[in-house]
Amino acid sequence: MRAFAPGKVILLGEHAVVYGHPALAGALSCGVTVESEPGRGVLRVPSWGVEARASDPSALGRAYAAIVEAAGGALDVDLTARFDLPSGAGLGSSAALSVAIARVLGLDGKRLLDAAMAAENVFHGRASGIDHAVSAHGGFGLFTRADGLKPLRAAQPVPLVVGNSGRARDTQGRVARVAELAAQSPSETRARFDAIARLVERAAQAIAEARFGDLGAAMDENQRHLAALEVSCDEIEAMCSSARDAGAVGAKLTGGGGGGCVIALAPGREEAVRAAWTRAGWHSFVTTVGGAP
Ligand code: PMV
Repeated sequence: MRAFAPGKVILLGEHAVVYGHPALAGALSCGVTVESEPGRGVLRVPSWGVEARASDPSALGRAYAAIVEAAGGALDVDLTARFDLPSGAGLGSSAALSVAIARVLGLDGKRLLDAAMAAENVFHGRASGIDHAVSAHGGFGLFTRADGLKPLRAAQPVPLVVGNSGRARDTQGRVARVAELAAQSPSETRARFDAIARLVERAAQAIAEARFGDLGAAMDENQRHLAALEVSCDEIEAMCSSARDAGAVGAKLTGGGGGGCVIALAPGREEAVRAAWTRAGWHSFVTTVGGAP
């Protein structure tokens, strides 16, 4: 048996989502494939160089145990997980792993979501839930803390270039800094969150109608707000400029910021953006977002 689950990107709305606003997220075309074969419950993750059992005290072992328990306990299979997206880059690889394991063990619907959430809580403490919800549903969605993921209609998947800034992303530190700004200048910060929420709405409309120019403009504006909220960094700004110079219609950080990944929307110019980033030493790949689950 074999099951696939996609990674995710936040297209717009990160950080504002912490304060109750919607974030627009989509499933990547790349993710995690888990294969099962007769065995005794061993989970192998070759690209992490580890294997685990559900009785192991490691994070992977405990996350795996949460899914195995939801699937009814004892296992007569071994699992091997293969990644075709980078880990630790804010692209939802751990959630994709959890969803793919849950799927190959026969879970679906709410039981799959609950099992993946339990595993994500092991990996990330109190996870927001966006990663595994997007991975399980596929497509695009608007995510709020209160209501979870609401699927979003899209005219077609969106092509994206995803590049790694080479600097570790700092979700915790940047979330803390935004909280300081919100305490120091509440009305200014609230106005930014409101502006970001309007951009999320505009981007959702643009995705519904495949208006990529408008989606790109919303991404650029969102990036300016993120920079003002002090969650960007020099590398991210340089990558965004380089992408725009190479023909991208929009570019921004994705996820926690302070480092991590940049996404560029450059329909038909993807390879030019990649080439510019490669010349400057940034690794990237081309993917589509929002395809079928
Ligand atoms: O860095 P990631 O992919 O875990 O995304 C963080 C997104 C934030 O909005 C900054 C935080 C959150 O919990 O939603």
